[in-house]
Amino acid sequence: MRVLSGIQPSGQLHIGNYFGSIKPNLEFTEKSDQSLFFVADLHALTTIQDASVLNKAREDIVLDYLACGFDPEKAIIFDQSQIPEHTELMWILSCITPMGLLERAVSYKDKVQKGIIPSVGLFAYPVLMAADILLYDATHVPVGKDQKQHVEMARDIAQKFNTIFGKDALTIPEPVIREEVAVVPGVDGQKMSKSYGNTIPLFGDEKKIKKIIMGIVTDSAGQNDPKDPEKSTIYIINKLFLDKKVAEKLADEYKSGISYGDAKKRLFEDYMDYMKPMRETREKLTTKDVEEVLASGRERAGEIAGGTMERVRKAVGLG
Ligand code: ADP
Ligand code: TRP
Repeated sequence: MRVLSGIQPSGQLHIGNYFGSIKPNLEFTEKSDQSLFFVADLHALTTIQDASVLNKAREDIVLDYLACGFDPEKAIIFDQSQIPEHTELMWILSCITPMGLLERAVSYKDKVQKGIIPSVGLFAYPVLMAADILLYDATHVPVGKDQKQHVEMARDIAQKFNTIFGKDALTIPEPVIREEVAVVPGVDGQKMSKSYGNTIPLFGDEKKIKKIIMGIVTDSAGQNDPKDPEKSTIYIINKLFLDKKVAEKLADEYKSGISYGDAKKRLFEDYMDYMKPMRETREKLTTKDVEEVLASGRERAGEIAGGTMERVRKAVGLG
């Protein structure tokens, strides 16, 4: 079992990303024989066209993931752009990928609707993603529901390649769709998302985070009125940081009329307790650590990628 996951470096991570994606991915990769984790910086070029922004985001995401517990001894951590075989394989796969397959991509249509420039790169995004996966003979690719179609396209492309060039040329990957994790609400009660500006960051200044938490929108229930915990954004977020028993006790406090002010203070304390070890690790990590991790990842990933490309070149007649 070889697990591969990629994440686009696209700004400050929030607790929705942590509970919805980072934590379950971490748990899944811990069960695998080998895991690769990469920063999808070539994919990010479809939306970020500012060198300093992209460079900062590339470094930050590695710092964040290391702080969250990704172990660079076990997982191979690398930057996509540092392994030239990604784009080489992408070209070869492009030549057998039907236009019609890409035209069906839901995420392309969504992105264009949101105002992202419909470039050739954005359209061909799923072919690059197929190359990412197939280059490493990944057997399992854990993703959220929004990325399922892309992994299925990688399967289709691999099957087509094998039909044309030889049946065992590429490994057919399995998508592992993360179990339905509840959608984490943002400070305004909508889904927490960078695009809505309603996030509680995972890292960053403590005072700012306290201010954000104290600003969570509530209904007009009076100070000592009983409150329904399951309808309160504060409780729904607070629960994420607690064991079941402690969460149940807290729910009772809502029912017996905790004030929203106290509830927010409690949420801030529980956030801090939960995040403290990760935040401390994040503070201690340096640019040099990131460079070392990426240099070692590049070497290990490059070896696998080089082997696959040799096989692919031979199969297509470029050997
Ligand atoms: P954003 O919506 O902030 O742009 P992304 O789309 O980059 O976040 O999310 C990356 C992953 O994090 C998603 O695939 C999803 O699994 C998870 N995620 C993001 N927001 C939430 C949320 N509010 N609740 C649960 N999971 C989330
Ligand atoms: N498209 C993925 C996302 O936006 C990131 C990604 C790129 C990826 N290549 C991948 C994920 C390969 C898994 C495997 O979330």
